[in-house]
Amino acid sequence: MPRKPTPDMQKWCVDEKGQPRINKGAENVCVDESEICFIDGFHSKLYYRGYSIEDLAQHSTFEETAYLLWFGKLPTRNELKEFDQKLRDNRELPEAAYDVIREIPKDTHPMEALRTATSFVGNLDPEKQKLGIEYVPSKAISLTAKLPTIVAALARVKDGKEPVKPRSDLSHASNFLYMLHGEEPSEEWTRSMDLSLVLYAEHEMNASAFSTVVVGSTLSDYYSAIVGGIGALRGPLHGGANEEAVKQFNEIGSLDNVDKWYQENILSGKRRVMGAGHRVYKSYDPRARIFREHAKRFAETSGIPEVKKLYDIAFRLEELVMGQLCETRGICTNVDYWSGIVYYAMNIPIEQYTPIFAIARIAGWTAHLLEYVSRNRIVRPRLYYKGMLDLEYTLVDKRG
Ligand code: CMC
Repeated sequence: MPRKPTPDMQKWCVDEKGQPRINKGAENVCVDESEICFIDGFHSKLYYRGYSIEDLAQHSTFEETAYLLWFGKLPTRNELKEFDQKLRDNRELPEAAYDVIREIPKDTHPMEALRTATSFVGNLDPEKQKLGIEYVPSKAISLTAKLPTIVAALARVKDGKEPVKPRSDLSHASNFLYMLHGEEPSEEWTRSMDLSLVLYAEHEMNASAFSTVVVGSTLSDYYSAIVGGIGALRGPLHGGANEEAVKQFNEIGSLDNVDKWYQENILSGKRRVMGAGHRVYKSYDPRARIFREHAKRFAETSGIPEVKKLYDIAFRLEELVMGQLCETRGICTNVDYWSGIVYYAMNIPIEQYTPIFAIARIAGWTAHLLEYVSRNRIVRPRLYYKGMLDLEYTLVDKRG
């Protein structure tokens, strides 16, 4: 006789009253202990390895932050020099990778192209068979150094231009902008890019970090784990939101139209503000505050009317979000709200914003992989089954 499973057949998913106990979206589920990152979502605080994001944003660099995240301490001057040199030495791609980059259809989104190119670079690693956690740091240095080269080459080829080869006399951020634009960036642009990489480097057990950890927990290889992270980051609810936020400001089009747009699209419940809301922050995202200052500076000093217009639209929309959604429901603007305006001011195409997020977040993905797999247990959650059991199987010819 067909039947439904009784609650005691899946008691791990059932509460004391026999009702399904489900954390949809794994909300507030703690999958491990960690020493990497702490988010105090009610007090707008974020720490990497105990250091506040404000201090890191002011004093650190991406290179130093990656070291901190992976090795658990701030490097000495010599340690940082050695680490930085390794990154510089690993920037170049094998020629075969440029060939693959040229073959990717031009209408492919850069995040999808990044997924493909990253996977291919993994295929070219002469030590790809070495899967153990002890090999992750050297592979991570190599791939972290190469991601900017891949992203810049993909962007240029998509634009009908030749890739620009990396230079080893520039910092991680400066070299990326150099490869993207084909000319050495100003100090101001380098600092803004570097700052954005620090802000995006890590954020606890978010969807892409979890994807990386899930793949890593099967003792699969480093590249597969990172490709998993890239795939998760691409979506508009996660990293893809930084592109969607700027598209939304462009769609609003003028300062005069913000209130009307907000009423028609957000108050009506038809759409979400892109770059607002967060599973963990129920107050202002501290990274958004830092990005906002930089967006303001660019709006005031870049002399580009389009940047000022986007900033003004974003500013007014944020006033509405903060006064209503944030105040009453904890839906406040997040990191992805302001970052795009900073990139826009640096003449970076909108579809490159999420790839830049990936260039930074590989630091966090790697840190979580190292930590989780060092005391590994395969990730294997359960689902509450609400279907039928013992249905009678009917041969295909006898089905109505
Ligand atoms: N605008 C308007 N309403 C919102 C928004 C928003 N941005 N975000 C959530 N809500 C509402 C949502 O409609 C729902 O309302 P109701 O209860 O009436 O159905 C309620 O808030 C709860 O939404 P949820 O989807 O259950 O919340 P969540 O914690 O699962 O989702 C989120 C978090 C970030 C996916 C969501 O806030 C969102 O879609 N935001 C827009 C996309 C975005 O900015 N993503 C970037 C996140 S931060 C950086 C990163 O991780 O990449």
